[in-house]
Amino acid sequence: MSIQVRGLTKRFGSFVALDDVDLTVRSGTLTALLGPSGGGKTTLLRVVAGLEQADAGTVVIDDRDATRVPARRRDVGFVFQHYAPFGHLSVARNVAFGLEIRKRPKAEIAARVDELLHLVHLEAFADRLPSELSGGQRQRMALARALAVEPKVLLLDEPFGALDATVRKELRQWLRRLHDEVHVTTVFVTHDQAEALEVADEIVVVNGGRVEQVGTPDEIYDRPANEFVMRFLGPTTALGGGLVRPHDVEVLGSAEPGAVEAEVGSLRRVGFEARLVAHVPGSGDVDVLGSRSDPALRDLRPGDRVWLRAVGPVVDPSPPVPDAEGSEAAAPGEPVGVAASSRAPVRGGVPA
Ligand SMILES: Nc1ncnc2c1ncn2[C@@H]1O[C@H](COP(=O)(O)OP(=O)(O)OP(=O)(O)O)[C@@H](O)[C@H]1O
Ligand SMILES: [Mg+2]
Repeated sequence: MSIQVRGLTKRFGSFVALDDVDLTVRSGTLTALLGPSGGGKTTLLRVVAGLEQADAGTVVIDDRDATRVPARRRDVGFVFQHYAPFGHLSVARNVAFGLEIRKRPKAEIAARVDELLHLVHLEAFADRLPSELSGGQRQRMALARALAVEPKVLLLDEPFGALDATVRKELRQWLRRLHDEVHVTTVFVTHDQAEALEVADEIVVVNGGRVEQVGTPDEIYDRPANEFVMRFLGPTTALGGGLVRPHDVEVLGSAEPGAVEAEVGSLRRVGFEARLVAHVPGSGDVDVLGSRSDPALRDLRPGDRVWLRAVGPVVDPSPPVPDAEGSEAAAPGEPVGVAASSRAPVRGGVPA
């Protein structure tokens, strides 16, 4: 049950929340919409669900044009960013709700609810009220409720957003296993890079109402399409006119092809990490991240000469944006504003 979105544009007044978005979600995949707050993730999901009408563009679900089909007839299961269960109904009745309004036979509903509660490991909680569940249990109930009507696609808007880090980690692995069992085409929203990289088959990076990049976790990480994607995935540092990751900087004791000469500024050991700051004359400081035991870093002293070389992806920094405040690209490690993103090409590849 694939999803195809073509030329989707959504405005709120004069504000463009989605700007000509194209997206294909392959049947049976678990796809993450990843991006910063306000980027348009929820809006995109709501348009696919039919809860919001786009100003332009089409939504095709399972090879059927759904653009004008009302939400209730799209066969879409949805878990909202701020999920509110029916507080006065038991867990079982919450899960049964969609089936009851579809007037399915009582025995069928009872069997399906049992099956779903088993799937989300809530068999023992069927008769409780939602207020008597933990946050993680409530989210699992929400998923069971969305799955009850056997949707063609499942749309999850930050399903674990409100939970603490440990429970989130547990639930994202659980979501992966659940998906492997039921195989329903699933799109989930997150602004957590690790969550997307760990569980998704495919990641769609959304920013400023546009899709910055689509790819598998490895493709996104190894070949970030532009500065925005690279910075969004973690710390970066400037080296030789490009942007690299601090742990992708190799430290050499002598000049070699492609290496830039630098002077050691400081070296700190923090836990298992070794953090080097080296100064490249005429271009500024480079952050290097290695391990505590790395022989190339171990005996360095401030003032030593070293040569630095990128061993991972190198991305061209975006050109400064005219009229933007300060009109310079953000400093290394700083988040990049929406306006600063561009589709600069990747220069380097990843070594084999
Ligand atoms: N009903 C609305 N009226 C006006 N503006 C809206 C409306 N809904 C969303 N927006 C704006 O559209 C932009 C995208 O919002 P959206 O909720 O899709 O972002 P998001 O990526 O889901 O963010 P978050 O990670 O914070 O949930 C935001 O700037 C938001 O303020
Ligand atoms: Mg949102």
